[in-house]
Order: sequence, then C-alpha cells, then structure tokens
Amino acid sequence: MINFNFKFALKPAIGENGISYDDIKLLKEKLTDAKNNLDKLRKGGAIGLYDVPEDKQMIQDIKNMAEIFFSKGIKTLFVFGMGGSSLGAIFLRNALNQTINKTENKKMNVLFSENIDPAYLSSNLEKLNFEETLFCFVSKSGSTIEVVSQFFIVKEKLENKIKNKYKEHLMFITDKKSGFLRQFADDNNLSVLDIAANVGGRYSIITAGSLFPAYCMGLDIDKFLNGVISARDGILGRGPLDANPVYTAASIIYLYYTKKNRNMFVINTYSDYLNEFGRWFRQLFAESLGKDLKSPTPIKAAGATDQHSQLQLYMDGPQDKLSCFICLKDYGLDYNINSEGYEKYDYLNGKKLSELLLNELNGVELALAMKGRPSFRITVDKIDEFTMGELSFICMEMVPVLGNLLGINPFDQPGVEKVKKFAYLLMGRLDSSFASETEELKRLEKIEDVEY
Ligand code: PA5
Repeated sequence: MINFNFKFALKPAIGENGISYDDIKLLKEKLTDAKNNLDKLRKGGAIGLYDVPEDKQMIQDIKNMAEIFFSKGIKTLFVFGMGGSSLGAIFLRNALNQTINKTENKKMNVLFSENIDPAYLSSNLEKLNFEETLFCFVSKSGSTIEVVSQFFIVKEKLENKIKNKYKEHLMFITDKKSGFLRQFADDNNLSVLDIAANVGGRYSIITAGSLFPAYCMGLDIDKFLNGVISARDGILGRGPLDANPVYTAASIIYLYYTKKNRNMFVINTYSDYLNEFGRWFRQLFAESLGKDLKSPTPIKAAGATDQHSQLQLYMDGPQDKLSCFICLKDYGLDYNINSEGYEKYDYLNGKKLSELLLNELNGVELALAMKGRPSFRITVDKIDEFTMGELSFICMEMVPVLGNLLGINPFDQPGVEKVKKFAYLLMGRLDSSFASETEELKRLEKIEDVEY
C-alpha cells in the first residue's frame, strides 16, 4: 500500500507561501479534461500504459524465453539499453535484489550497460564468461546509436570467442516490426521479444524491456504487474477530486509551478533501495514534461545522505523548490541502538535505526515548513514487487496528468531526437533530414574554441 500526505504542501502548515485546497478544487475542469483525454488515448489504443500490464501473452513469452536460457545454463544477463530502455529494470534490481530467494539455476546475475564509456564496457566484458552470458539489447526504436554500436562490439567479441555458436548468446527486445535490431533478429532467426508499439521507453517498465531482465533476476513479475493494476484501478476508479492522490499531487506540482514560481521539483528518497527509483522517476518526469518552455526541473536527492549535501540549498536557497519525499513504513531489517552508559546519548538508547531515519525526514519537513517551503510525502508500506508496481504506476499516471495540466504531450521527446541527429551527423551519417543541423554545425565550426 502507498499513502500520500499533503499537509506540508498546503497553507495551514507553510503559511502565505503555500496554496490552499480551494486552489486545487478550482482546477476541477482542467483535471476532468486530463482524465477524459487520457481515457480517450487509452480507448483509441494510442497509449498502452493501462492495458499492457494485463497482456497475458507478453508475460508468458517473457517466462518462456527466460526458461530456455536458464535451461541452457546462462548465468549472466548483460543488458544494453539507453534511458527508458534500462532505467526501469535498474530501478527494480536496486529495489528488489535483496528480496530474491530463487534457487541458483533459476536466476541470473543481471548487469547493465547504459552508457558507452569504452573503458567501463571493457572492464565489464573482460570479467565475463561468454559461454554463460546472454547479451540482451533493449531498444524500442531498434536503432539507438549507443545500443547498436555496442551490439557490433559484442557481436565481434562473441564471434571471436565462441565462434559459430555466438548467435545463441544474443537476444533483442524491440519493436515488433521496425528498426535495425528487429531486422537483424528476424534475418538471423534470433531470440527476440516485443515492446508494445503504444508504450514509449520511459513507460516501458510494464513491458518485456524491463520485465525480462526482472524475471531473469528472479523477481515475481506477476506480483509486480498486480501492483500496477491495483494502483491503476484505485486511481482510475476515483474522480480527480475524490481524494485522488495522483491527481492531487499533479495539481500541487502544477499550482506551485504556475502560481508560485517553484520551478524545481525535488524527488527525495529516504531508502537506499529507492535510489534508482529516483533516477527512473527523474527521467520519466524530465523527458515527458520538459517541452514548450514549460515544466519544473526534477532534481534527484537521497536522504538522509543529502541532508549533508543539498539540504542547505533547499532550506535557504532560492524559494523555487517543491519537494516530494518518498519513504518506507517498514524498512525490513532493523537495528536497536544500544547507547547505554553514554549519558549524552541516552535519548538514542533502545531506538531503532529506522526511527532515526524517519525522524530525520520529519525534521526536514518541519524545518522546510518553518521557512515557508512546501513538500509532500509518499509512504510505501515496504519494498516488494507489489508495492514497486503500485509506485511505478502512480508516477506513470502523475506525469501525464501533469502534462495535460501544463498543455504538454507527455509521450514524445522531440529534444532527444534533435540531439540524436547531431550525433549521427558528427559520426558521418548522411541524411537529407539533417539539413538544419548541418547548417548549424557549419555556423558553429566557424567560431573559434575558447580554450586555455
Ligand atoms: O524514454 C524514452 O523514450 C527514451 O529515454 C528512450 O528509452 C531512449 O532514448 C532509448 O530509445 P530506444 O528504446 O528507442 O533505444
């Protein structure tokens, strides 16, 4: 279960800097439009976010594929994917690796390459036993330059190391019809899973792109999807103003951004197991909403660690931030602090370490409120597949609702496409659709570097 608390986002707690619940109520029409719009996109098949989690065939395909590789003695899965094509699975590994209790031959050690630093890639490749490794390339478009270039490197290494059996160590998770990787897989009769056409990278935690690595890690993907579905039904079953936490959170972010100049949104997780969730949520937020000169900038922080790093800025820096704290009710394993005999630390004696962590968070909320700085809190009961499914869906619904309020299409990423064009151009690809980038490149090349 997941609980929201908006107390520290509202006027009674933080005073004149705050917004009131009546301000949220005034958004009723906009919120209803957002809900109707998302519903229309769902019914028209344009977005798969709501229905793909119930795709039984997808789940079966993932399991069948993994079982084949388990039976072949594959011990390591090396996943290559950029942005949304790896962050979901990395988040699940970070959150849930501790909970896995499958037998050794039913789980793999899962590694990720989400960058193209050659030295780092090499250090990972050097450690591997290729005979026991499956190299998995995840790309919705099937043509992302970072993934394709690493594919060529790995393919060559595999050919050298295990000769004609190399194809048995490659697999792809990509679009059903288009893209280079799909073509290569089909031409060579290689293992491949589909990513639903109506689910974009950053929403793909509900597809094979994340769920295949998750299953290989030993996670219970049915339980995860049940959590997604349960959150979906809970949220969609309520009207936007019917104590609906996701619509309330989106309204609060929207109002602070548009009415109170709070253009920074701090995602602050209070569990080391939610660190990668923070990275996943930041990407979902930034890539979905950063358009048309609108949208707050998401910042990732992690408590209590960053209380000794970024918090000074959040307390006394510009009044431009809204914080969202994400913590746990139950941290699982815990410690009792024994400070008996040390008078100065009497107050700590017998307390749990988790109590200290949560009281540090309470203290941050109180101190921020005292300075008229808003925040809200999301409490996750405990970390398991179900709650991580709930948490994922909550974020994947909050972002498009906010996008609708801001008048932004949360499902495209034109800025990223532009950067990709420059990379292609600089690497020597000729394409008539790069005309404006070519012109810009020529203009900038004439200007001298300012180097020391
Ligand atoms: O969320 C997104 O859409 C992006 O971050 C993509 O996942 C990323 O650019 C990788 O694209 P692809 O999956 O096509 O390789």
